[in-house]
Amino acid sequence: MQKRKGNIIMVIIGSDHGGYVTKEFLKKYFDKNKIPFADVGCDGSAVDYPDIAEAVCQKVLKSPENCGIIVCGTGIGVSIAANKIDGIRAALCSDYYSAKLTRLHNDSNVLCIGGRTIGEEVALELAKVWLETDFSGDARHIARVKKITELEVKAKGENA
Ligand code: RB5
Repeated sequence: MQKRKGNIIMVIIGSDHGGYVTKEFLKKYFDKNKIPFADVGCDGSAVDYPDIAEAVCQKVLKSPENCGIIVCGTGIGVSIAANKIDGIRAALCSDYYSAKLTRLHNDSNVLCIGGRTIGEEVALELAKVWLETDFSGDARHIARVKKITELEVKAKGENA
């Protein structure tokens, strides 16, 4: 079972049609390894990636023990959409180092993957290291993540 700081993680997973095959591949690993997950779709038919990003992120925000994995063709569309939602820190990763560091430094709560840009086995390695890595909790990283949250507040003030 994947744990962060002793808490059981619920993985909220979703994809559009471009990420469907990768999503199903990751789910097989979660099933086999008894990792709790909830699939918000799609079922393989064409959907709009912002809708899937929203569905995953809304569930992620319901509990600090939730985290999200979203797959689209490139991972770019879902990462852009997810990062519009307050409280979401979505990281588009295609290499192991970034997937690890975005947990250690950014405390990312959503991992975005490109189903058409990387192989399924690479996607699985990214998901595994991302799920297994805790936020470092270092003061400098806490301060930087806090500044990200402050940008959400600033943006609201400027657009009011
Ligand atoms: C869907 O064709 C494709 O645009 C989508 O999966 C994604 O790559 C968008 O960023």
